[in-house]
Amino acid sequence: MKSTHKFGMNNETKEKIKKRYDQILTRGERFWPDSIFKDAVMALAIFLVLVLLASFVGVPVEPKADPSDTSYIPRPEWYFLFLFKFLALYGQIPLLGKIEWLATVIIPTIAILLLVVMPFIDHKSERHYSKRVLPISIMGILVVSMVTLTLMSDVPTGPTLVGALQTIGGLVIPSLAYILLLFVFKNMSNKTMIWTAGITAALMIGFCGAVLALYQAPPSTTETVATTVVEQIQAGQQLYSVNCVECHGDDGKTTTIKGVKGLEGKQIFAINSKDVLNTLDDPALEGVIAYGRPDAGMNPFGKAYNAQGLSKSEMGYIVVFMRYMWDDRFEKPTLKPLYPPLAAGEIPSYEAQIKPIVDRYCVSCHRPQKVNRSYLMDTYDHILKSGDDAPNVTAGDMNSILMQLIQGQRAVVSGDGIDAMPPNGKLPADVVDVFKRWVAAGMPNTAADAKALPTAVPTAKP
Ligand code: HEC
Ligand code: HEC
Repeated sequence: MKSTHKFGMNNETKEKIKKRYDQILTRGERFWPDSIFKDAVMALAIFLVLVLLASFVGVPVEPKADPSDTSYIPRPEWYFLFLFKFLALYGQIPLLGKIEWLATVIIPTIAILLLVVMPFIDHKSERHYSKRVLPISIMGILVVSMVTLTLMSDVPTGPTLVGALQTIGGLVIPSLAYILLLFVFKNMSNKTMIWTAGITAALMIGFCGAVLALYQAPPSTTETVATTVVEQIQAGQQLYSVNCVECHGDDGKTTTIKGVKGLEGKQIFAINSKDVLNTLDDPALEGVIAYGRPDAGMNPFGKAYNAQGLSKSEMGYIVVFMRYMWDDRFEKPTLKPLYPPLAAGEIPSYEAQIKPIVDRYCVSCHRPQKVNRSYLMDTYDHILKSGDDAPNVTAGDMNSILMQLIQGQRAVVSGDGIDAMPPNGKLPADVVDVFKRWVAAGMPNTAADAKALPTAVPTAKP
């Protein structure tokens, strides 16, 4: 009713309103019971909403907390992420960053105390926003920094460009603005305050935008989108090969872990058994993959616990794979063969046949950061050249270390020798045969290289 307030209101009405207003002012509103009653009604309403949400929406339960689990990476709830980010950025400041209690205790305490005493400091009777520019500016900057800090909470902090932008946008700019507003410009005009707060907010948003635009999340390992069941099984199989074969074997049949540091000789349930597949339903299986069995030696694979981990859909594919391939309640679909079949005398290549075989049976252990005598099998060159006992495989040498190992023999090498590979099972005969043909023919890399070789090369006989 702005217009009537300024114009066209006769004096009589004005008087009436003023009188009523004065009456209310003098009488006031009683804290007890009036205010309390309103608060109680509101609190009850919120409580009911929470009860409804909890009964009908809910949040997924996490497994029981495990105090012995050292691999668990705690993350605060979303509404605390800004504080989490603030602490991370604060830690980047030279010197000050060392004084942790300043950021973890003193600053939040001051902030909370300020909120508590706010009504006592700011007791002006003026309510109009034009009379309250300073508090509104302070609060505005605070709200914008809470939002931008929350948005940036997933981006790692560190001595990088993105890290520096975060520190400037999330910490330096708002601090400068507060210093300007509170200490430097005494008796600043409203206009200057609004400009200061506006520019501060714009800069913070700009820096946050730049951080989000520049930050490239680490590529999630082969994030495939599989729609049909068969695609999902195949995607799951691939993920299973890389992530799980080392401990559970290519068919989930391993009961004694071999060749894995720290778990050598550990007895486990065969995860392709009825015992496991019938006791755990799909969400439970996914849960085991996400949270692992940290106390038993299986680290979590879920992204929430492991930045390089698997996404929810990827874990879902692994579960689909396990069900269709191992659970006899599911009909096994016909899948693409592991490698393109070879005609008699046809020469296999790394690209077409060996790579899928090696990915399935070997790469889980023979990749960086695993115990494997430095023998990496993730690329053609690595297979030929890497390893403490390199070369492990040589064109035409049917007795190389690799050839002995995959045929179930123990190879005598530097040191005390190596047991058959893979340690947790035997390679199928057809796979061993492909390896033999490949080595005998000279280990061609691409399918084209294989075609170019004279087909007269005799197929190796054991
Ligand atoms: C570093 C070794 C290791 C890796 C890698 C690993 N696991 Fe495990 N897993 C274990 C151990 C140890 C257990 C505990 C087994 C037990 O208690 O019998 C286990 C348990 C399980 C179980 C539960 C068995 C039960 O009865 O509770 C499932 C299912 C499982 N793993 C699936 C997987 C899948 C799927 C992957 C790949 C994403 C994987 N694991 C990767 C070592 C591993
Ligand atoms: C469960 C993990 C695991 C799997 C799966 C596995 N390996 Fe190994 N591999 C090892 C470990 C561990 C060593 C080192 C053994 C030692 O020091 O006694 C090793 C050593 C080797 C070596 C000797 C390397 C060198 O330079 O001394 C070769 C060759 C090898 N593996 C081939 C293979 C092949 C081929 C496959 C797939 C068919 C395979 N491995 C699958 C764990 C594994």
